[in-house]
Amino acid sequence: MTHLAHPLVGRDRELEALDGHLAQTWAGTQRFVFVTGEPGIGKTRLLLELEQRAERLGALTLRGRGSEFERALPFGLLVDALDEYLESLDPLSFSRLPAEDLRELAAVFPALRSHDPGSGGPTTPAERFRAHRAVRDVLERLAAAQPVVLILDDLHWADEATVELVAYLMRHPPRAAVMLAASFRDGQADRVLMTAIERAASERGLVGRIGLLPLSRAEAGVLVETGDADRLYAASGGNPFYLLELSRMPGGADTGGPAEGVPGAIAAAIESELDALSSDGRRLARCAAVTGDPFELDLAIATAGIDEAAACTALDDLSGHDLVRPDAVPRRFHFRHPLVRRAVYQACPPGARLTAHRRSADALAARGAPAAARAHHVEHAARPGDLGAVAVLREAGQATADRAPGSAARWFSIALGLMPDEAPAAERVELLLSLSRARAATGRFEDGRAALIECLALTGDDTAQHLTLVGACAGFEQLLGHHEAANTRLTAALARVPDGAAAQAAALMLQLAGGDFYRMDYGAMQEWGARALAAARSLNDPPLVAASLGVLAVAAAFAGAVPAAITHSADAAALVDAMPDDQLARRLDALANLATAELYLHRYPVAGRHARRGLAIARATGQVEMSPVLVPVLSNVLHVTGRVAESEDLLDGAIEVARLSGNAQALGWNLLSRAFTAVAAGDLPAALDAAEESAEVTGALDDSLVATYAGVALATALSESGEPVRAIDVLLVAAGGEELPRIAGGWRAGYFELLTRCWLAVGEPAAAERAAGRAAAVAAELDLTFATAMARRAAAAVAMHRGDALAAAEHALAAAAAADATGARIEAARARTLAGRALGRAGRRERAVAELRRAAEQLGACGAARYRQEAERDLRRLGHRVHRRARPGKPDGSAIATLTQREAEVARLLLDRRTNPEIATELFLSVKTIEAHLRSIFRKLDVASRYDVARVLERAGAPAPSRHAPDAG
Ligand SMILES: Nc1ncnc2c1ncn2[C@@H]1O[C@H](COP(=O)(O)OP(=O)(O)OP(=O)(O)O)[C@@H](O)[C@H]1O
Ligand SMILES: [Mg+2]
Repeated sequence: MTHLAHPLVGRDRELEALDGHLAQTWAGTQRFVFVTGEPGIGKTRLLLELEQRAERLGALTLRGRGSEFERALPFGLLVDALDEYLESLDPLSFSRLPAEDLRELAAVFPALRSHDPGSGGPTTPAERFRAHRAVRDVLERLAAAQPVVLILDDLHWADEATVELVAYLMRHPPRAAVMLAASFRDGQADRVLMTAIERAASERGLVGRIGLLPLSRAEAGVLVETGDADRLYAASGGNPFYLLELSRMPGGADTGGPAEGVPGAIAAAIESELDALSSDGRRLARCAAVTGDPFELDLAIATAGIDEAAACTALDDLSGHDLVRPDAVPRRFHFRHPLVRRAVYQACPPGARLTAHRRSADALAARGAPAAARAHHVEHAARPGDLGAVAVLREAGQATADRAPGSAARWFSIALGLMPDEAPAAERVELLLSLSRARAATGRFEDGRAALIECLALTGDDTAQHLTLVGACAGFEQLLGHHEAANTRLTAALARVPDGAAAQAAALMLQLAGGDFYRMDYGAMQEWGARALAAARSLNDPPLVAASLGVLAVAAAFAGAVPAAITHSADAAALVDAMPDDQLARRLDALANLATAELYLHRYPVAGRHARRGLAIARATGQVEMSPVLVPVLSNVLHVTGRVAESEDLLDGAIEVARLSGNAQALGWNLLSRAFTAVAAGDLPAALDAAEESAEVTGALDDSLVATYAGVALATALSESGEPVRAIDVLLVAAGGEELPRIAGGWRAGYFELLTRCWLAVGEPAAAERAAGRAAAVAAELDLTFATAMARRAAAAVAMHRGDALAAAEHALAAAAAADATGARIEAARARTLAGRALGRAGRRERAVAELRRAAEQLGACGAARYRQEAERDLRRLGHRVHRRARPGKPDGSAIATLTQREAEVARLLLDRRTNPEIATELFLSVKTIEAHLRSIFRKLDVASRYDVARVLERAGAPAPSRHAPDAG
């Protein structure tokens, strides 16, 4: 009997592939490597080999293992990999983390609990990506000192929270030398994980896959040297685990070959191993298998209920039979193999197993373990009607609902199953509501809805709670795009609302209006809004009045009824602005709708203010996912007014939220908004990606609004990418034809302008002229300054094409002035570029240069790099030398003076050729923060690369940075 693993046999090709991945990681490319194969084929063994090689190369390796029967433990696998290492770090290094990160990390890693800075902003399940981001930041920090290899074994047993984190890391790879290597059994991995792997593989090429096959006959012969090798090989099918197990047996045994689970013969073999143990040994083995794998000796002893001396003898017996082996941590052991643990667990008679789970739960409770750690045992030991068990499971669910809603949902649902029949309906409803929220947080809206329908059956339909439940249930239906079902449910409930419940009735009407918004039925929306307004006024309920006015304002703005939209939004704004946050929190839709209407009226400053306030209240009251339009509205205001980088940050966070919550509607909104922002930033590939994905995710919804705007965003990105033919096609289909009827009134002129340019680009001046004419007509009808700006820009393009440069210049200058008046800085500057070009063509060189310089400057300040380059190209065509201040040889001391102290520090470290993670470590900031500083530095110095920053500083004679090594733990 040997405790040593047999030297590795075969696997040369696999090792070569792993070496390749390590080399790429060391070269700074992130790698995600997945080792797959049937149980016992050698995945863990290969990962151990990887660990050794990485360590020899000087990596920090962190390894964790999933455990079959403990899958609900939130972040279990990740904690297994990182917790001990984090605990070993100097506490000081954590005190430098931002409070928010620390709070998130403390919620995930027990080792960091004592560092929890306490509450700041609240966390909601939708925002659990913050925890993922914090983990990524930690990995980046660790990787600043040495490459990090994170090994997650048995990912098929990982809890949902760990899987979500891995998926996040694949979407946002750490910007440092970090390699993630994981194993999972063929066909047993989570769908979310498989999707994330496919995406990362096809879009980014970051994924390596190693599928393990059985050993060859010759390799098997090296692994087990026995006289009966042929029969063993045939029986094992070349699976190393089966080979080794069968060779342990005195006479060998005939198995049915490899199969899922523990094949009969192997299970029988392990049972006979158990039979050979002393009775205390057998008892300890079974109890250990119940407490966990790895297991803590003391917990196993407490579970077995044997005294310490007897337990030690029993342990010697187990380890003498190589059934268990010591772990890296004192007084912790693991089974020879997870499949052995499973066999021992399954061989435990049901009654004994039940008792063992109960005693484990009690022992954990006696040590003050949190409910989440006890829940698994409680679940297996509880009898129906066991109120104590219900309480533990409920507590476990509540404690994990924010960051691991998948586990929480599981516990809530088991608790519900255990509730006694005679339990009060209110308690059942409370658990069902928690279950429904947790289900929704992982995108299981169908399941969330099912829980609510159960609630509805439990509450009398004359109660206020019943109406709230109807609203929530219809809310899920609307999210799923089942607008008809929602409409039917809401109208039926409305018909039954008792007299005297006018407030509830008005709430249902507003929700009906919300459904009509997504169906683009603005007439119906207007009617519900008006009825709700009448009810709200008679109730003298200001938040409800404001919400009704918001609905009316949106309906009018989208239908192009500008005067009505202006009146309703002004009335709503007056109310909302006078209302305290806590009152407004009841009807956040008031702010969401108001800001939307204002955006479509191009009133950017107020729209931005209202959207910001809405988001702040949403965060403070945990309603982030309830108002999917607030972020798109604010992001739009930001990029239109030239704050492109801010808009990008806002959307990237919101996209994460929507991905995690599986909310297709919100994801669609945020992605299409991201496409617009990327166009403004000049990042066209990103714009096309985002717009295409938005169209994809919203295409499945029976919802026309988001899908329409996804098409509009895609057309915009296509047009900017030099694909006018496809842009025209996509735009006309999405917007419902040449008159663009499906685009909101206030925005239509802008898209006629886009069409004008596209038609000119494809050589169809007549069609272009028609489009420009429509732009002029809609602008005249609506009397909106921004629409006028777009119509004038369209006219300028047409005049330019006709060869009438002076007329073009006049239109374009008028467009620029009008757009500037609304605060639409990028569109204004683009109009100015066109004006400059026209003036140049008309021979007014001096004026042309002045306009183009002004445009280039404004576009640069907005972060619209591509449009700025466009203006600069025109300047060069006019023979004007563009002095980008950062051009080598032209350092600008005054620009350096505009850097903040932090930015100057970052810039000096750049001069020292430090990487972002190194700078982050040096300054105790996150890599993300460093990137934000860099963006700002680039903008202020007007440069495009780190190299240029260094040049500017060197020319300006910046003091050399201190050259001490980064003190990264
Ligand atoms: N190439 C090999 N050379 C030597 N021993 C091996 C080899 N492959 C696997 N083994 C041994 O076979 C046993 C089973 O392998 P391992 O635990 O790695 O399988 P696994 O694929 O991780 O199984 P599971 O899916 O159950 O986690 C282990 O004892 C391991 O040390
Ligand atoms: Mg394994």
